[in-house]
Amino acid sequence: MTRREFLFYSGFAAPLFAKRDNDPSAIPLGSNQLAKFVDQLSTPPIAKTAGYRAHPHDASKKISYYRLRMQEVTHKVHRDLPPTRFWGFESSSPGPTIEARSGEPLLVEWQSDLPHKHFLPIDHSLHGAGPGVPDVRNVIHLHGGRVPPESDGYPERWFPPGGASLNFYPNIQEATMLWYHDHAMSITRLNIFAGLVGLYVIRDRFEDALQLPKGEFELPIILCDRSFLPDGQLSYPVSGDPHHPWVPEFFGEVILVNGTLFPYVELQPRQYRLRVLNASNSRFYYLSLSNGEPLRQIGSDQGLLPKPVELKTLTLAPAERADLIVDFGGHHGQKVVLNNDTLAVMQFRIGNKVHSSAGIMPSSLRSVPKIPEQEAVKTRLLTLTGPPDDDDPTVMGFPMLLNNAFWSNPVTENPTLDTVEIWSLINLTADSHPIHLHLVRFQILDRRPFDMFQYFNNRELRYTSPAVPPDANESGWKDTVRADPGMVTRIIIRFEGFAGRYVWHCHVLEHEDNEMMRPYDVVKPGP
Ligand code: C2O
Ligand code: CU
Repeated sequence: MTRREFLFYSGFAAPLFAKRDNDPSAIPLGSNQLAKFVDQLSTPPIAKTAGYRAHPHDASKKISYYRLRMQEVTHKVHRDLPPTRFWGFESSSPGPTIEARSGEPLLVEWQSDLPHKHFLPIDHSLHGAGPGVPDVRNVIHLHGGRVPPESDGYPERWFPPGGASLNFYPNIQEATMLWYHDHAMSITRLNIFAGLVGLYVIRDRFEDALQLPKGEFELPIILCDRSFLPDGQLSYPVSGDPHHPWVPEFFGEVILVNGTLFPYVELQPRQYRLRVLNASNSRFYYLSLSNGEPLRQIGSDQGLLPKPVELKTLTLAPAERADLIVDFGGHHGQKVVLNNDTLAVMQFRIGNKVHSSAGIMPSSLRSVPKIPEQEAVKTRLLTLTGPPDDDDPTVMGFPMLLNNAFWSNPVTENPTLDTVEIWSLINLTADSHPIHLHLVRFQILDRRPFDMFQYFNNRELRYTSPAVPPDANESGWKDTVRADPGMVTRIIIRFEGFAGRYVWHCHVLEHEDNEMMRPYDVVKPGP
């Protein structure tokens, strides 16, 4: 059990879960109740264009146009379970993968053909979910995309079933794997839990030239932990307070890999490129291979690392991505398990023959020029705070906040377009929070432990030991950063691309839905 899970299970949330129904059909299946490695891994289909449309800013140009409809879908997640209801795109959850090229813009029309009733427990006391608001509402955000504000999927720009939104994705960024997901105000955790996620891969010439494994040798791995009832349906917990069903975090009993539980995949004894996404609500993953071989990470959230990084264990916070090369050469006929901590996630079955060239590992990848700290025109000290006292049951449901402000408070973060800022994230909670900024990519400067009591009592930032540089696999471009408890995490950001209203937030979806999200403005420089 990780530190955050320990705090969660032993802390203020525990009594609520203890008070579950005695009815066995209402108790989620544990991971040892399901046979492992009996279903084959599936990969999401590749999205097909629905034709061409005029470029929104240059009508003389035609660009690819996609139409993706959100729909209720059912599929079997496991051989021994009845089909599960999900919400997906077209007929799949996760949705079809959009393949894009850097420099080639495209349009996606997101439509909702979802039912008018939600099948998961909405908390109407949360901001934005009150009376007069339809239960089912959606807006799609391209996570990690450098996208104009009107196409970014602002949480309040949701539309109801029957509605649609045409979004322009300029793809003015380097090769990497982004993902799209629902971002509707205060029900994102439920909409994503229901299955509204998909991949968006950007490729470019630089990456092509590296000749990394591709086609059937490049595997997307989308990880979502979930709980299932014996009837095969998704189970999301409630707090026990009917007026405030929101729970502070969600940890599922089992892990879906591209929509299947404990899948296996048959591979050739050669190199594979695994593109891993943590699409879970709250869970952090600690991934490793059962044969003790390292994972080689070549890219993170926003693209390739300067050079490959060997990892015994890969830590992946919600919304983070890892681009991995795994070499199964020399493992003819073996079975290797991908584990999360000590629990199995999936199995690789390695065959005896290599049918094509096995691939080489480039020793250097893409340079990541450091943004000099002196370029920063501003340093912002931003706190992450929780309820005043975790053990006091009266504060149940009390939100965690960014910089002590609620969603509805006026904008306080207003960087100027094309300037550099340092954001110091002062984490005063007992949790690690994955902090994500829309629009931008950034670099992690360091993390530094500080005296929390000094801060609480006198607002004084007193460091207790030297700053720790980011991990080797965090030294590339990022869009989501772990802000660890008791640490000041510093990131350096150039606000490039577009001016306008965006958001920054914690990517633990339960936190994000309950006030741990703030609007921010990128402002045009004055005359
Ligand atoms: Cu992946 Cu604002 O989100
Ligand atoms: Cu959080």
